Amino acid sequence: MNDAKPKILFLDDEQHVLDGIKRKIRKDINRWDVHFVSDSLQAKEMILQGIFDVVVSDIRMPGIDGISLLKTVKQTSGINSPEFIILTGEGDTGLKRKALDLDAADLLNKPVQKEDLLARIKNALRLKQAKDEIHEKNKLLEEQLFQSQKMETIGMMASGVAHDFNNVLAAIITYLELAERKYGDESGIKKDILKIEKVAIHGKQITEQILKFITNKKMVREPVSLNKLIDDVLDVVRITIPRMIDLKKESRVQNIIINADYTQLFQMVMNLCINASKAMQGSGVISIALSQEKITEEIFFLGKAVKQGHYACIAVADNGPGMEAGLIRNLQEDPVSVKPSKSGSGLGLSIVARTVINHSGFFIIKSNKNKGTKFKLFLPLPTESEKL
Ligand SMILES: Nc1ncnc2c1ncn2[C@@H]1O[C@H](COP(=O)(O)OP(=O)(O)OP(=O)(O)O)[C@@H](O)[C@H]1O
Ligand SMILES: [Mg+2]
Repeated sequence: MNDAKPKILFLDDEQHVLDGIKRKIRKDINRWDVHFVSDSLQAKEMILQGIFDVVVSDIRMPGIDGISLLKTVKQTSGINSPEFIILTGEGDTGLKRKALDLDAADLLNKPVQKEDLLARIKNALRLKQAKDEIHEKNKLLEEQLFQSQKMETIGMMASGVAHDFNNVLAAIITYLELAERKYGDESGIKKDILKIEKVAIHGKQITEQILKFITNKKMVREPVSLNKLIDDVLDVVRITIPRMIDLKKESRVQNIIINADYTQLFQMVMNLCINASKAMQGSGVISIALSQEKITEEIFFLGKAVKQGHYACIAVADNGPGMEAGLIRNLQEDPVSVKPSKSGSGLGLSIVARTVINHSGFFIIKSNKNKGTKFKLFLPLPTESEKL
């Protein structure tokens, strides 16, 4: 059921019953989109199109009776079925039972009382809305489950590739060492061999990084150098995003060490860089800055004032199109909730938010249309006694 008027179908083969209902609901009729039908077969076709939220139906009718109609619709439309209110006679105990067994939302004795009719319709609409919401949520969870299983498979494949690649690089490095020993003194060769070795060692570090990222699952806290973390992320981002995107690093401070989960932080910064790269569509500048900040003013995050004191600040900025205001508001109000996006799973920013929260930090987003977006992630610096 969406925001449009709820759609209700009234079905009775006797026109005077329909006229009576029409009179009884006339004050409420504008709130709904109502249809009155006296031919049950025609009603069946209309209902099976899946547009109605509630059907108020007689039981005994020529064509198809109310119970068979209910059964057919529930079997054919499943979770998208409208809610049924079945109109019964005083003595129809057996039929009432049947209707309830077939999951009718409600029963009403004829002649119907106005208040009873209105109350039952309202309840049936509420029930339909609740069911639709649950259905939507389940669909979303299913998509997320599918996505996370896909990620797991990709992770396994990547770990296999990274592992083999690591072995290849290890072999190359070993042969280079042998070559250096064997031919190292010959003119000019040593320099080249050392250069190749340096590149191969760098490649090995990157694959080890990827392996560490993939295999690490549980949250751990250990001393993490943010300077090194940013270098590690940049190594991987460099080979992930288009060449036309410039990556800039500004480290205003050396040796910032916090107690953190390396893998989570790695993923967090990586997600921001990938988002920035996607937003810039092929060219632009991403800059990552690391600084130390002292928070003395009152800053609110998720409705609470953040703790004042010393923080490490990782800022990831781009000069892309900027973020939609609605999205920023969502992130500031309910940052961990997942909103699926057209282009991806929509999990990236909620992971960023979760990670910041897991590390008792907070974030600030600055974004201007066509001027770019900047995420500033604040992570508390450990005091002397908190250092691990
Ligand atoms: N730097 C940015 N500039 C402009 N828009 C952005 C930026 N970062 C995120 N967005 C917008 O926020 C949305 C949500 O980002 P998020 O990372 O949560 O999901 P996604 O990138 O679409 O999917 P996923 O990360 O799961 O693959 C993006 O689809 C994009 O519209
Ligand atoms: Mg993303």
